[in-house]
Amino acid sequence: MSAQRVSSRSLRRLFDDTACHYDRITGLMAFGSGAWYRRNALQRGGLQEGMKVLDVAVGTGAVARAVVGIVGASGGVVGVDPSTGMLAQARRKLGIPLVQGVAECLPFGDGAFDALTMGYALRHVSGLSPTFAEYFRVLRPGGLLIVLDFARPNSRIGLGLGRFYLNGVVPWMSRLSSGSREAELLMHYCWDTLETLVPAETILAAMGGCGFQDTRRVRWFGVLSEYVGRKPALAS
Ligand SMILES: C[S@@+](CC[C@H](N)C(=O)[O-])C[C@H]1O[C@@H](n2cnc3c(N)ncnc32)[C@H](O)[C@@H]1O
Repeated sequence: MSAQRVSSRSLRRLFDDTACHYDRITGLMAFGSGAWYRRNALQRGGLQEGMKVLDVAVGTGAVARAVVGIVGASGGVVGVDPSTGMLAQARRKLGIPLVQGVAECLPFGDGAFDALTMGYALRHVSGLSPTFAEYFRVLRPGGLLIVLDFARPNSRIGLGLGRFYLNGVVPWMSRLSSGSREAELLMHYCWDTLETLVPAETILAAMGGCGFQDTRRVRWFGVLSEYVGRKPALAS
């Protein structure tokens, strides 16, 4: 699933090293993927007040913060991420439980959550099926899965514009605004993973193959994808 410019060990280091710049450099990317978009996408996906939610790949907490706002005091959010640096940033901003771990092997019991969210990280997991199987396991019967990610532009013009902006302008602006070579590399890596993204049908098929029902994908602004599915209510 991941582009091979960076190995999984050095990817972890890359996220650790850029965690302190992450919010600023992703803010530069814009594309409507800010706080309001995340909140709207999660509500569109069916997230509701009172739910107990696991946010996988919590990063600095951008999706988790939106989840907290939706589920309110009667709900709850737990964040999980492999990167020590990202978790440290999230800890400074969010008063939620944060746990170190990876999507493919979640440190939680079966059926522990009403909903599971993941933002802009499906491209980093080692395999779709092991990941969705874990999501299925930790969700209660009837539980909701919402995955937000980028979409690969369809047309050659879209791809060319995307490459120019995301593999040229954004890495350059990231280096300029942070002074960090790693921040520039992270943005190049981000483009690599986007350019080699598997088709939406492959992701939906992997969700379905792991037992999720009512799976759908909605595309926004040509570059953003929302994948939604439900664990069957009678699943054990
Ligand atoms: C692009 S950031 C997204 C952070 C946040 N969800 C957001 O919307 O801004 C990707 C995150 O995925 C995490 N990550 C990388 N590999 C992962 C894995 N195998 N399982 C879970 N998270 C992973 C990274 O540490 C990083 O925090």
